[in-house]
Amino acid sequence: MVLETPDVLRQLARSHRQLAELKGVVGTIPNESILIETLALQEAKGSSEIENIVTTEDELFQGDATTAQFSSLAAKEVHSYAAALKLGFARVREQRFLRLDDVLAIQATLLESRVGLRTLPGTVLRNQESGAVVYTPPQEGDEIVRLMGNFLEHFHADDESGQLDPLVRMAVLHHQFESIHPFYDGNGRTGRILNLLHLVLHGLLDLPVLYLSRYIVRNKAAYYHHLQTVRDTGEWAEWVLYILKAVEETSRQTIVQVHGIRDLMQSTKHRLRTELPRLYSQDLLNNLFRHPYTKIEFIERDLGVSRPTAVRYLEQLTQANFVKKVKLGRTNFYINEPLFKLLSS
Ligand SMILES: Nc1ncnc2c1ncn2[C@@H]1O[C@H](COP(=O)(O)OP(=O)(O)OP(=O)(O)O)[C@@H](O)[C@H]1O
Ligand SMILES: [Mg+2]
Repeated sequence: MVLETPDVLRQLARSHRQLAELKGVVGTIPNESILIETLALQEAKGSSEIENIVTTEDELFQGDATTAQFSSLAAKEVHSYAAALKLGFARVREQRFLRLDDVLAIQATLLESRVGLRTLPGTVLRNQESGAVVYTPPQEGDEIVRLMGNFLEHFHADDESGQLDPLVRMAVLHHQFESIHPFYDGNGRTGRILNLLHLVLHGLLDLPVLYLSRYIVRNKAAYYHHLQTVRDTGEWAEWVLYILKAVEETSRQTIVQVHGIRDLMQSTKHRLRTELPRLYSQDLLNNLFRHPYTKIEFIERDLGVSRPTAVRYLEQLTQANFVKKVKLGRTNFYINEPLFKLLSS
């Protein structure tokens, strides 16, 4: 199979350039949890939307994984996706490796169920409109385990041994994973998490913050079409190009967002220091940017202060117009509106 056609090579250069720039820009945000909590949550939202789990930005940022409080089922599912992404990232960073067990843990976190790999036959992929069977993945449990072993080998191949560019390899791996279709459900979402982890594993990104799924949501018919074309014709170039373009465009958008977050943090920091100097601390600033919808409990926890102190801080922040107070149900949220706007754009 010819993967690196002239078109692919040209696109590859553009995708790498943007991705490398993103990697650099991400490094300028001092507290990594800020980007993980905001941008990874957005990737979770987009990726879940492909499966028709649709939540609003409001519901999303109101959700609180630590107390398992969510204003909709969809928001809860999106938070499970983000938890799965973070779990995968933690393991890749710690182990510099991903085992089958880790992939199972990612999918189990995502779906909140421990069913594991398919063992029973009967799974087929159907055309979304006509319902016609377009592809029958491997049916035997043993075969699936064997194919996953092969997948993970390629997932770890380093650049010298693999000889394929890591971005091209990501495209091929994603296709391979979706074709093995190892689970009864969640294959698409698990596969999209694995894409980001592959980038981190091979050093193309330090944090799993690339909102790739937005591109797929917006070009969804093409996503299914190209996946299937490879299978029907053996032609890879269009599929690879699709993924490479997704990387380029998404990197560009993510760079804009990270710049926006960085600038906003700077200006907020200056304003806090001049207008509320007795309140100002780096932890407080980080809190307002980790949680676009912050609340009393978050301030207590992140700053290690008592509840009355947290309440007083938030009241002062509200009065000085740093956040907007909104009561939803029984909870008061304090919204960092410029940040929220930036993330919703
Ligand atoms: N013709 C096809 N060939 C290969 N893979 C396909 C094909 N059609 C769909 N897929 C893959 O199967 C995924 C859907 O599988 P599944 O329902 O298990 O995953 P999901 O995470 O629940 O769904 P989604 O991907 O819609 O979020 C699609 O996202 C796509 O990646
Ligand atoms: Mg599904």
